[in-house]
Amino acid sequence: MQHFGDVLKIIEGGLKFNVQTVVNYAQALKARLEKDGELQQARLLQTKLDGISPTLMAYSGSTAPELPVDQESQLELADIEKLAPGEAHAILDTHIRSDVDRFLTYARATDQLVEAGVGVAPRMLIFGPPGVGKTQLARHLAAELGLPLMTARCDSLISSYLGSTAKNIRKLFDHASERPCVLFLDEFDALAKARDDAQELGELKRVVVGLLQNIDALPPSCVLIAATNHQQLLDAAVWRRFSFRINMDLPRPELRDALLRSYLKSFLPSEHLDRAVLLSEGLSGAALREVAEDCIRGAVIAGEQTVPAHLLLHRMAQTSIIARGMSPTESAIARFLLDNKTPQRLAAAASNMSRRQVIKLSADMKVKVKPVAKEGIRKTGKSGGLVAVDKGTDSGKVQKPGAGRKSSAKRA
Ligand SMILES: Nc1ncnc2c1ncn2[C@@H]1O[C@H](COP(=O)(O)OP(=O)(O)O)[C@@H](O)[C@H]1O
Ligand SMILES: [Mg+2]
Repeated sequence: MQHFGDVLKIIEGGLKFNVQTVVNYAQALKARLEKDGELQQARLLQTKLDGISPTLMAYSGSTAPELPVDQESQLELADIEKLAPGEAHAILDTHIRSDVDRFLTYARATDQLVEAGVGVAPRMLIFGPPGVGKTQLARHLAAELGLPLMTARCDSLISSYLGSTAKNIRKLFDHASERPCVLFLDEFDALAKARDDAQELGELKRVVVGLLQNIDALPPSCVLIAATNHQQLLDAAVWRRFSFRINMDLPRPELRDALLRSYLKSFLPSEHLDRAVLLSEGLSGAALREVAEDCIRGAVIAGEQTVPAHLLLHRMAQTSIIARGMSPTESAIARFLLDNKTPQRLAAAASNMSRRQVIKLSADMKVKVKPVAKEGIRKTGKSGGLVAVDKGTDSGKVQKPGAGRKSSAKRA
């Protein structure tokens, strides 16, 4: 039977005397019927909904459900976002895309799978460094499922009052399980930190235990997504609650290419995109978006129809150098470009240096940077730029982000 999941939820709500659940799922069913062209049935359902007595509605809470709030601060515990399918685009590696598609298929067929005895709870844990698109993926999933995204607000969930955090989590989970939605726990580590952390007190243990119980009690129809930059902090028991675990790493070249194309759109330069991709190694999707938008601003102000290639290379080199913790001086930019095998003419245009200066810099780099066994990072002559010299190389190489120190992205 089609839409059996909604019917089951309506019955469940009725048996628990929960008018709100009945109304919410009846509205969801009505929307599905309308979409299927079953207009007469949808109208009939609406007549029933219109016929609910005001007393009963008042008893249920309200027609437009208010979000639960923290008792002390009166701040709402979540934000609600409604997205149309196709509205939140996520650009993903092919292996992640196939996991995401499988998740969407299972989430849409929960009832069928439960009935067949092979139910899988639609719960996904997304982890990886900041700016790689974890929040965007959660928005994408909600949009594709046609469900509102209920994002927990950690600032109001975590209360300084003893016992209130666990109570807030409970309120939020109860609220989410009463209506069709995607419950999204962003910055999940704030709630699900390991219980054996010596510095934390009993309160944290109670929060994690409560969190696990709430997750376990969620009905299979409720979609749960959690995201974190600090997966190493998560309690071991938390991992088992998520049947889908998505490791989103910093984008590889093909993905950086796709991200740049999607952000630059009609402003895409006609050449040297592959070089921009090369220069962007170690940058997140968020950083690429900033570079692209900055370049578009520059092009619009200059009255250009497309972003000039030298502007894109300049901004990309600048951002990459900053991400490596160095100062983006013109000579550091030229050095970085040359290091990445950019022709001298283009390196000059992209670094705002004269061709002659770039030729000299290139010659200096060849002479000054001698092969040094296992030397780490050292200062170079005039520019003061940092270069990492590998054993046996004959050219100075700007350090990769994260090399020689723990990835700052992961710690941020
Ligand atoms: N893979 C991606 N697909 C689409 N947009 C992305 C991607 N990676 C980053 N972004 C963009 O970068 C910005 C930050 O992404 P976000 O999802 O907030 O990252 P995270 O949650 O991992 O820190 C958003 O504007 C998003 O559109
Ligand atoms: Mg995020």
